[in-house]
Amino acid sequence: MSSGPDGAPARPPGAAGRHSIADRGARWFRTCYGHRPQGVWLAPGRVNIIGEHTDYNDGFVLPFALGEGVVAAASPRRDDRLALRTRRDPAASVEIPLARLRPGPDGTPAKLDEVREQLPGWARYPAGVAWSLLAAGYPVPGASLAIDSDLADGAGLSSSAALECSVALALTELVSPDSLDVLASAGPDPDRPGVPRPELAAIARRAENEFAGVPSGIMDQSASLLCRAQHALLLDCQSLESSQVPFKPDRAGVRVLVIDTRAKHELADGEYGSRQAECAEAAHQLGVPSLRAVHDVSALRGLADPVLHRRARHVVTDNLRVRQVTGLLRTSGGGDFRALSEVGTLLTRSHASLRDDFQVSWPEADVTVEVAVAAGALGARMTGGGFGGSALALVPEADLDQVQARILAAFSDRGWAEPEFLGAFPSGAAQRMI
Ligand code: GLA
Repeated sequence: MSSGPDGAPARPPGAAGRHSIADRGARWFRTCYGHRPQGVWLAPGRVNIIGEHTDYNDGFVLPFALGEGVVAAASPRRDDRLALRTRRDPAASVEIPLARLRPGPDGTPAKLDEVREQLPGWARYPAGVAWSLLAAGYPVPGASLAIDSDLADGAGLSSSAALECSVALALTELVSPDSLDVLASAGPDPDRPGVPRPELAAIARRAENEFAGVPSGIMDQSASLLCRAQHALLLDCQSLESSQVPFKPDRAGVRVLVIDTRAKHELADGEYGSRQAECAEAAHQLGVPSLRAVHDVSALRGLADPVLHRRARHVVTDNLRVRQVTGLLRTSGGGDFRALSEVGTLLTRSHASLRDDFQVSWPEADVTVEVAVAAGALGARMTGGGFGGSALALVPEADLDQVQARILAAFSDRGWAEPEFLGAFPSGAAQRMI
């Protein structure tokens, strides 16, 4: 790999991988529909550095986009239907008349439950995006879509948001076969062509919450649509203002190691929703609109219930840690070794808070964090919603082999499935590839 002037890779290593998955997606489209797609759009998964379960509390998050993601190869159709195929389930073929997703002429909502029940799980995300775009007043063209991915499902790396965002971009950037106009430019505001990305993130999130029925915050879709290479995204989930924070651990000889613990992660199973409810109740009892408004743990004395107190303490302290990590990365221009060591300590503290106060970690993640830090990682934590999925560790290059070997041994000693390792490089946002 070639290097830039400051030793950082001149090109994020994800870039080559993105081209090959886009090409494979285009071939898959051809297999499905017998002709070339008009375009191929890729949306990445994400790793959240810090700020977990803070997004739905109006707080702060600091994710970066992976090189890996989901591709949607697409072409418009003239029959006002959405055709869906996925390479993960090659035999499945879904077609939905868009009329079934459109609100009625008097604004009555489409009968979503009926439509959803007839769809396989994976198809609910792209269909939901079409519904959500229509509900926001954007025109959606009939389209054939073929989905492919190089991101593990259920690994807590936000494959569903990546699927939504790739489809959202495809449906809003497809060009009409008749007029060569980008169809979505005929949206609610004729002066604003296309759909601004923060709005597209909200549309994709609505698809996930209201159509697919999965409760989640705004972090994953924002990361997929707004991140920049060699940066993390600082998102204020209240104002939805975001800024780019340099994140270049490579320059300091540090790798971001993602460990897929292979424990399945399922957001819809109720625990995530119950954490949301507990946080809302804690805010209510404190008399604030959301836990974002609490800046100091001493203000939590008013919470008599020990569980609510612990939940709120995690949110308040993780919001503070996001600020601290952001400060360290900014002042060191993306992270020198010293700053990254301090970031590592904050990551490990965040994990302890998620394990003990928020109680969303799982045994494989706890062992991964403990072993990684003992073997030389600067810090480690679970990432994403929890109850399964992945952890991340900041690891000096010299210790990388040892950290991986010790984690493998710890899993094997316990009879757990072998974890998978991914070297993660902060990469760019969703883009049209072909
Ligand atoms: C999931 C959700 C996000 C966020 C995280 C926890 O990934 O999709 O919105 O709430 O969990 O930080």
